Amino acid sequence: MMDGKEVKMLEFPQKGDERGHLVIVEGMKDVPFEIKRIFYIYGSDANVVRGQHANKKTEFVLINVAGTSKVKVRDGKGNEAVFSLNRPHTGIYLPKMVWKDMYDFSEDSVLLCLASEHYDASEYIRDYDEFVDIVNDK
Ligand code: TYD
Repeated sequence: MMDGKEVKMLEFPQKGDERGHLVIVEGMKDVPFEIKRIFYIYGSDANVVRGQHANKKTEFVLINVAGTSKVKVRDGKGNEAVFSLNRPHTGIYLPKMVWKDMYDFSEDSVLLCLASEHYDASEYIRDYDEFVDIVNDK
């Protein structure tokens, strides 16, 4: 769908035993960047749509460590795909310059987000038309 680094589901190593589950996510190993920031989203109602932006620099991996949600990604050139996040040992990799909407949060959803960059509001594109213009070199 996207050039180069593509949107894709990732599966993380599990080292669970009779004591419980353990999932490992290491930068540059299980995700294709060094992790500089984490944040997590919970308590979003089922009818809420979050995200609704693209990032000029930041790559993300999103993991529903509890509950479920969906992520719709768009490349601004007419391609879109919906991914279900519903297992604590899987995540979605989002390269820079993809438009993302997160929605359909279950009541118990805890969406863990790993980011390749520190927060910088100026690298967020929050206007879809502007995003389309940029990816299409207008
Ligand atoms: P927002 O980007 O709208 O959240 P999401 O993409 O997860 O739906 O962020 C909500 C607010 O939090 C906004 O004012 C920016 C701020 N924020 C930070 O200060 N640092 C961060 O790392 C993030 C993700 C958001």
